[in-house]
Amino acid sequence: MCGIVGYIGPRDATPIVLNGLKRLEYRGYDSAGVAVVNDGKIEIRRDAGKLGRLADLVSQSPISGSPGVGHTRWATHGAPSARNAHPHLGATGKVVVVHNGIVENYLELKDELISEGVTFNSDTDTETIVHLVEHHQASGLGLVEAARKTFSQIKGAHGIVLLSASEPDKMVCARIGNAGGVVLGLGEGENFIASDIPAILEHTRRVIFLESGQMAIVTKDSIRVETLRGEELKPQTHAVAWDPVAAEKGEFRHFMQKEIHEQVRALTDTLAGRVDFDHGKIRLPELNLTPELAQRIQKIYITACGTAAYAGMVGKTLIEAIARVPVEVVIGSEFRYSDPIVDENTVVLAISQSGETADTLAAMEEGRKKGATVWSIVNAIGSQAMRVADGYISMQTGPEIGVASTKAFTAPLVDQYMLAILLADLRGTLDEKTRRALVADLRLVPDLVGRTMNREAEVEKVAYALKDIRDCLYLGRGINMPIAYEGALKLKEISYIHAEGYPAGEMKHGPIALIDETMPVVCIAPQDPWHEKMISQIQQAKARGGTVIAVATEGDELVAEMADHVLWVPAAPWRLSPLVTVIPLQLLAYHIATIRGLDVDQPRNLAKSVTVE
Ligand code: G6P
Repeated sequence: MCGIVGYIGPRDATPIVLNGLKRLEYRGYDSAGVAVVNDGKIEIRRDAGKLGRLADLVSQSPISGSPGVGHTRWATHGAPSARNAHPHLGATGKVVVVHNGIVENYLELKDELISEGVTFNSDTDTETIVHLVEHHQASGLGLVEAARKTFSQIKGAHGIVLLSASEPDKMVCARIGNAGGVVLGLGEGENFIASDIPAILEHTRRVIFLESGQMAIVTKDSIRVETLRGEELKPQTHAVAWDPVAAEKGEFRHFMQKEIHEQVRALTDTLAGRVDFDHGKIRLPELNLTPELAQRIQKIYITACGTAAYAGMVGKTLIEAIARVPVEVVIGSEFRYSDPIVDENTVVLAISQSGETADTLAAMEEGRKKGATVWSIVNAIGSQAMRVADGYISMQTGPEIGVASTKAFTAPLVDQYMLAILLADLRGTLDEKTRRALVADLRLVPDLVGRTMNREAEVEKVAYALKDIRDCLYLGRGINMPIAYEGALKLKEISYIHAEGYPAGEMKHGPIALIDETMPVVCIAPQDPWHEKMISQIQQAKARGGTVIAVATEGDELVAEMADHVLWVPAAPWRLSPLVTVIPLQLLAYHIATIRGLDVDQPRNLAKSVTVE
């Protein structure tokens, strides 16, 4: 979703802002713009389309100065066009705004402003912000006070940055609600604002995260964080360990391909320091799980969106099988509207790569309000979902840039497996032998995933065979049922092929009507407790003339005889099998999309981090 970068200091802001926006491209956007203060004037370049278009505009008609602010927009109000692209300038030409979020009461505010004679130059809700600021400035207020008054008038969740040509020594920014992050980067004689860390990582590793309900006045030498009422706060400075090189493509053609391959390393990192193989024990210190809490938990709600929700569905099977605690998975956008039955013996566990997904954060808030213990499994260090939780597990996968999530799917599977063992151990429901065996299986993970990855060339061949399909059905059972959902999601996200994931046993209740020679069926059929059942699904699909692509365990001749194509995976303990079955499906989607010549890292209409409801 919308990316924001701001710079103040002795250097020209334009290249710093453009470069920062480039690092946020993965978030998904449809227009982009930059504004700088130069000699008492604000200069803006903006247009619909990708950053390359903006860079061309800037090179044809250069601008320079400081401070400067840039934005990549993901349209909500008003089509993607030059006039709706941010930054938005006020009527005086002296104030400019960039914004992430939705001004929910903008129609009302706009009407009032129009009745005062203000002319609007865009269809956006954002433009109301800059006119309101100017309205307050007209009564004699400076930028900070005018901004403060404006922030109290707008409803909804926002990340906002304001610049004024009359006060070029500062940038004013705010975070209101959960419309994505606002990160302040501390430099030497220069400072930065961004919606996300990668934008500023090449300049500084020292950052402050604005919490909801906070604003900041950023000059080149100072950062003052305040409440929206103006009380000064003492924010914590965090040192970010992410390596900027980790966010480069390196030898790979796309971030998605790189991130698929990184799963071996990411999963090794997520185990590191947490698994004591000698004693068969798990340590998750940041979760703050005490024996007292473990024993009184009666229910766990897992809440998440998209890929993270499918990871949660695998987690449900793991936690219920290992810890025998009832788990319900509720999609983030549904949780707070479903009047969930939550009390102090309930845990609400949110899973989120970005830690900034608005619906997931709202679900966490709802859990908190109802007295639950709130946990998160989260990748982005310092994100809201990490900060507001009572305890968390950090995915340790490093930045994920490709919009279609891959390594942030497998890491939480391992995290939930570890959580299940720890929970069972603290509840005293796991005998030592079983616990040791479950822990010992984790040793296999890097090798299993690495061996699956080595079969990429075979997957690519199958991708060529399927490159022209229009629909695809994915079937799975038991712990691999969510892998059918995730495999289908990957394909539709990046190849725009209609794909549906289904519990295999439900095929006969509907989807079987669709099966013919034009509808391939991906059957996830590893050697797990549901293997036999999957064999009969394959037979049923074949009997209707369907092309079957089976994900099967190496050496499974029975499946090989029936299927048209086989995506082989190594034999794995069933509780860990989703880690290997999902990989060929990630690779299949990736190769089909690249063969079709599509932009896999930034698929149309999708955003990496969805910070609006
Ligand atoms: C967007 C992304 C998905 C992601 C989902 C949840 O839709 O495109 O890849 O799974 O958001 O994101 P989160 O950051 O909360 O895991």
